[in-house]
Amino acid sequence: METLIAGQVVQFLGDPFVIPPTEAVQVQSDGAILVRDGKVVSIGGRDHMRAKHPDAVFHDHGPGLITPGFIDAHAHYPQTAMIASWGKRLIDWLNSYTFPEEMKFADRAYADDIAGRYLDLLLANGTTTVTSFCTIHPGSVEALFEAAEARGMRIVAGKTCMDRDTAPEGLRDTAQSAYDDSKALLERWHERGRATYAITPRFSPTSTPEQLEALGALWAEHPSCLMQTHLSEQLDEIEWVKGLYPTARDYLDTYEQFGLVREGALFGHAIHLEPREIDHLRANDCSLIHCPTSNTFIGSGLFDMGARKAEGHRVGLATDTGGGSSFSLLRTMAAAYEIGQLTHTALHPAQLLWLATYGSAHALHMQDRIGSIAPGMEADFTVLDLASTPAIAQRAIRAETIWEEVFPTIMMGDDRAVIATYVMGHRVAV
Ligand code: GUN
Ligand code: ZN
Repeated sequence: METLIAGQVVQFLGDPFVIPPTEAVQVQSDGAILVRDGKVVSIGGRDHMRAKHPDAVFHDHGPGLITPGFIDAHAHYPQTAMIASWGKRLIDWLNSYTFPEEMKFADRAYADDIAGRYLDLLLANGTTTVTSFCTIHPGSVEALFEAAEARGMRIVAGKTCMDRDTAPEGLRDTAQSAYDDSKALLERWHERGRATYAITPRFSPTSTPEQLEALGALWAEHPSCLMQTHLSEQLDEIEWVKGLYPTARDYLDTYEQFGLVREGALFGHAIHLEPREIDHLRANDCSLIHCPTSNTFIGSGLFDMGARKAEGHRVGLATDTGGGSSFSLLRTMAAAYEIGQLTHTALHPAQLLWLATYGSAHALHMQDRIGSIAPGMEADFTVLDLASTPAIAQRAIRAETIWEEVFPTIMMGDDRAVIATYVMGHRVAV
């Protein structure tokens, strides 16, 4: 069966941080995408494609903007129910809100309930792929992979590992059990359908060196997995790491000594970096994941997108739910724009859209499958109404270019702007 999906189609011809954004990202008005067996076959003009494929099921989105499905490169699905918790900074926030909530995932039924609710919220917000931490409980990982599989979604996830007494009783594993449980889970889920396993030490302050060493060994044994963790999010956290790892050269070194700094490593936040860390992250082709709503919500600091992109880092964009204050990558793009203004980099709307799709896919080493609309790519799309509210509509109507029209939706849009979400060419209910 073939499907033809019509609208204004976003296409990427290059990196908008390298070539001018309006050359790198182009929008075909009156376009259409032909999909077969979950993949993009071809893209062309609406009338031409209609005439050529008269038997295809036709979805016409009129002036709707068809973008690649949004990709959230760092989130914590177990924090869904405590998003928007007031008044704390990172370490207090973890102890007061996060850890008590994560304890509840010992109950598999609770994990199933939140996992399903979370993925449905993502689809309603136009996010088709997420890279998520789970909790220390293997059942929390099974719950998310199963919920994603039921929805046909591409997903990256892993068991969060914490074995230090800095984590509370009830949320601790051991170096050996973290290795064994992660291994069993990755053997079951890695590369099963659209699933990818990420080995997941939460961050160095909640792991012993023995645990980081065990997870480094596991990654060496299963090198096609990804590895996700946190790096240099808050200044207090960095001081804490220095105390816990007195011989480390810097925060990155606490991972580097154990083989956790290489291609396929995803470092959430990575805000307050030393020159050595910047050099080694780049030389080892690691991915930096920008979490702008979280970085302001928890009061962490300003990620310097302009500098990191100019240095040639892989950079993805993420909500960091529930440290982040939104499930929406539109809201996340808006926050990235605002932080860009504070770091003297006015991000173009084409760059923001690219970061939330191709940029995240590239950070996850999945740009050959997701993150752009091109022949052979998986057919995950988000369709945006560029006039979804009266406030946005009255601004968009004055626009003289497509990017001037798109920008108000990036800055002011939310799930009401998402007209449709497609997963492998199937329109899902949002
Ligand atoms: N660092 C370690 N764990 C977490 C977490 O759950 N959220 C955020 N934002 N930072 C972290
Ligand atoms: Zn995080």
